[in-house]
Amino acid sequence: MTVSDDFIRRLPKAELHLHIEGSFEPELMFEIARRNGVDLPYATVDDLKAAYDFADLQAFLDLYYAGMSVLLHEQDFYDLTAAYMKRAVADGVVHTEIFFDPQGHTERGVAFEVALDGIWRALRDAETENGITSRIIMCFLRHLDEDEAFPVLEKAMAHRDRIIGVGLDSSELGHPPQKFQRVFAKARDAGFRLVAHAGEEGPVEYVRDTLDLLHVDRVDHGNAAMTDPDLVARLAAEKMPLTVCPLSNYRLQGVTDMSRHPLRAMLDAGLVATVNSDDPAYFGGYVLDNFIAVRDALDLSQDEIVTLAKNSITASFLEDSAKKNWLTAIDTVAR
Ligand code: ADE
Ligand code: ZN
Repeated sequence: MTVSDDFIRRLPKAELHLHIEGSFEPELMFEIARRNGVDLPYATVDDLKAAYDFADLQAFLDLYYAGMSVLLHEQDFYDLTAAYMKRAVADGVVHTEIFFDPQGHTERGVAFEVALDGIWRALRDAETENGITSRIIMCFLRHLDEDEAFPVLEKAMAHRDRIIGVGLDSSELGHPPQKFQRVFAKARDAGFRLVAHAGEEGPVEYVRDTLDLLHVDRVDHGNAAMTDPDLVARLAAEKMPLTVCPLSNYRLQGVTDMSRHPLRAMLDAGLVATVNSDDPAYFGGYVLDNFIAVRDALDLSQDEIVTLAKNSITASFLEDSAKKNWLTAIDTVAR
């Protein structure tokens, strides 16, 4: 029997792979562009949406950076984050660990703190109003030099109370993990949790090197790992979480047929796979839409859906006591 949408929505879930700038819905983008006096290269929301037809990751990233360029003030980052948190709550997300790309803002002259303060204030308000908890992970842009990442890490160190970890995103091919080995070592020494995109478009070696050279706590995507049985066995043995983004993979042509999505093989191999939305405003769906897409394409059972929800809690950076409570709550819904 098909697992209902409502059952999936009621399951407590954590979202662990979400670029806050990728949750920028066109309607809000136009509104903020208007109030900031910024011209968008599209006349209407529909014209902009029509451009969301991506040949690959880079085609998406070009639009993603153009879209975020209308974010200028603390209130803009607040509005962006508040809108995402509302959607997350509606999908039954109880905890979220969101990425932001400080270099996408500082290189336009928007201060690190302007972005962080707006995001933080919206997260606090969402917790007060809806009980949803959150963490912030700051990502380095991998198409830029490692030298440029060090001052960003210094900023994060000055805001350790609000930033739990660092990540690595943007154009993967040609920018292997070893390029960021030194800055990740420094972040690790400073006590940050570590995550990195790997194996989204890049080859299986990038996933292996992300483990060996960056020493991450989670791998973002990790799809390419499924081509190497030894690496799959290692990921299983190490209980290394993968933050998988099904609709993103589909829309960026990483998988051409959802019924062949590697999530099926990940679950069969016992990997700690989780389901996430990545850039929901661009890829056609928030976390519940992603669950529904894989439920339908991969014919996931109730047990498999429950496992995915549990994995999201286990793989989070929540304290053990909170994890235990949410795992019990999942069992209560599933009983
Ligand atoms: N930045 C925002 N979304 C991304 C993705 N899917 N891959 C790499 N970098 C990103
Ligand atoms: Zn991502």
